[in-house]
Amino acid sequence: MNDESDVLRPYPIDSSQDKVFRKIVFAKRDLIPRITSILLHIITYPLMILSKFLSKKSINEDGEEKSFLEIGPFYVSTRTNAMDSKYFYVVRDGKIWFKPIAAHPHASWKLFNKNGSIDNTKIPLISVSADGDNILAVDQNQIIHYAKSNEVICEVSFDCPQWKVLESRVKWTEKWFNMDGVSLIVNLFKNPILKSLPNYRSIAMSHKGHDTMYYTDMKGKKHPDPYVGVTTIYILNDDGTRIFFADPWLQNKFDNELTTPEDGQFKAETMAASASTVFLIQRARNEYGKEINKIFTRFADFDSIGSNPALRATYNQNNIIPLIRIIPSEDWIEQPSISLDEKARLTKNISILQIGWGQNNRQLRVQGQNHLGQNGYFFKNIYHAKWNFQVINDMIIDEDEFSSESVPHTGFERGPQIAFDYENGSLQPNVISPLQKLTLEKFSHRGLNERGLHTKLVLVLNHGFKLSIPLYARRGWKSLLGISHENIWKLVIPLEYFAQDDLYLKEILEKIFHNRSRHSVYVYERKDQILITNVYFSRYKFQFIFKNKSN
Ligand SMILES: *[C@@H]1O[C@H](CO)[C@@H](O)[C@H](O)[C@H]1NC(C)=O
Ligand SMILES: *[C@@H]1O[C@H](CO)[C@@H](O)[C@H](O)[C@H]1NC(C)=O
Ligand SMILES: *[C@@H]1O[C@H](CO)[C@@H](O)[C@H](O)[C@H]1NC(C)=O
Ligand SMILES: *[C@@H]1O[C@H](CO)[C@@H](O)[C@H](O)[C@H]1NC(C)=O
Repeated sequence: MNDESDVLRPYPIDSSQDKVFRKIVFAKRDLIPRITSILLHIITYPLMILSKFLSKKSINEDGEEKSFLEIGPFYVSTRTNAMDSKYFYVVRDGKIWFKPIAAHPHASWKLFNKNGSIDNTKIPLISVSADGDNILAVDQNQIIHYAKSNEVICEVSFDCPQWKVLESRVKWTEKWFNMDGVSLIVNLFKNPILKSLPNYRSIAMSHKGHDTMYYTDMKGKKHPDPYVGVTTIYILNDDGTRIFFADPWLQNKFDNELTTPEDGQFKAETMAASASTVFLIQRARNEYGKEINKIFTRFADFDSIGSNPALRATYNQNNIIPLIRIIPSEDWIEQPSISLDEKARLTKNISILQIGWGQNNRQLRVQGQNHLGQNGYFFKNIYHAKWNFQVINDMIIDEDEFSSESVPHTGFERGPQIAFDYENGSLQPNVISPLQKLTLEKFSHRGLNERGLHTKLVLVLNHGFKLSIPLYARRGWKSLLGISHENIWKLVIPLEYFAQDDLYLKEILEKIFHNRSRHSVYVYERKDQILITNVYFSRYKFQFIFKNKSN
């Protein structure tokens, strides 16, 4: 797992974490009830399957099937074709059809969960997405339905196309927010149905569960999550500039946002996601008319970005206590673009697959043609540098799926600017040696200045020394319940500054910040000014004031 070729991996490998990880997985007390239930599963499952085998009875199906000739194989997910590590799923005639990935290539497609519908409703489905143990379907009224697929068990044979469904227990829900007890009350006040956004570009189901086991934070600490997992639905909006996500533990539906790359100005054509890793692409043409592409990935879910109030997270980079997440979390990683030589070109159909433990085990795929004009897909491991191409002879790609020659030759499209700089700030109390300049950089009024924005205070001291202090925000519990949009803000002074000998710097650190690196602050966005002030220790109150731009 300690792979030399992981050149894009943003965190260090700390081998001592494997010990921590084993200890936690096997000894953490509050996991024991879950372990018991898992064990019970492990014992009862084979028995269940065995009894099915012995009775030689498979589930009564409607008998309706679609031949492999009618729905060919696919390697990249689309709105109507999805795959996880066990099954292929498609939406055809408003219903979900599926077959095991391990089945014979000539195996036919069967209706998922007996009739391919969402329980008793016969509302036609238009889209499907799957990952880990989760499956999602969007119906023609734009309602999102979600279910677990881990109690669907099939028997396949490698040398014969016949296959059987042994067990199929699927419980669909379109009610979002399932927290026991609380949900009963909260859902009384707020319609719990999750709807997709109008004209969304992509929707993706994500499940980081036992198959990925843990993730590593930016200091190399491993966070095992073997039994519960994180379920997230990501959605890319109509112009490709905003990513919203919903998590069944959050009552606020798609009211959670991940800022897109390039300070929120990247415009994605499509988005895919798997096990909490989001994957974006944009194709364009440069001034010579040559096709170019820009690709980003980021491992980010509600837990990893530190917004879950139930999981401890800290900005203290020296914290070594197991299970306390070091934040900020992984930032957007710009992936090497796919070089398109000779006849090579791309579609916007992309996939990301979870292929093992840790967020370093994801495979990225982009459908297209290689330099010889052969159909297939480009692929690579997420943190590797080099893209490879897999030729698929029977893949059919319509000409209109390729980037048209008529795309303006002006490079990459960008969305509107959402983060702005505020200059000429003032600071209270005054320091003996005045500041040359005080700027609040990349501040957005959109609300959550979550990692992707890199908001910071920049203080230029009177001899030119530049002090950059990140301003981070996290969700508060009130915003999770949809009561308010208040954030929990923190100014975090990088520890390196405290080790420097600069006298003016020392003065600022002592007089304003009392030699402490982390400061909880309030950020007030008033009509005429933005005010940043510390929460505690009013004895040492500081205030940064920035004039709001009048439009
Ligand atoms: C690519 O995605 C689009 C939109 O989902 C779909 O219509 C098309 O069939 C896909 N192409 C291939 C070759 O799968
Ligand atoms: C489809 O199958 C499910 C599971 O057996 C059942 O609950 C549901 O009533 C069926 N729906 C229709 C429309 O037949
Ligand atoms: C900041 O101050 C400088 C010089 O005093 C001035 O030129 C500039 O317009 C001011 N900027 C803003 C945003 O007020
Ligand atoms: C801050 O640190 C400096 C050393 O850099 C020390 O002299 C000073 O007493 C400290 N001040 C406070 C308030 O802790």
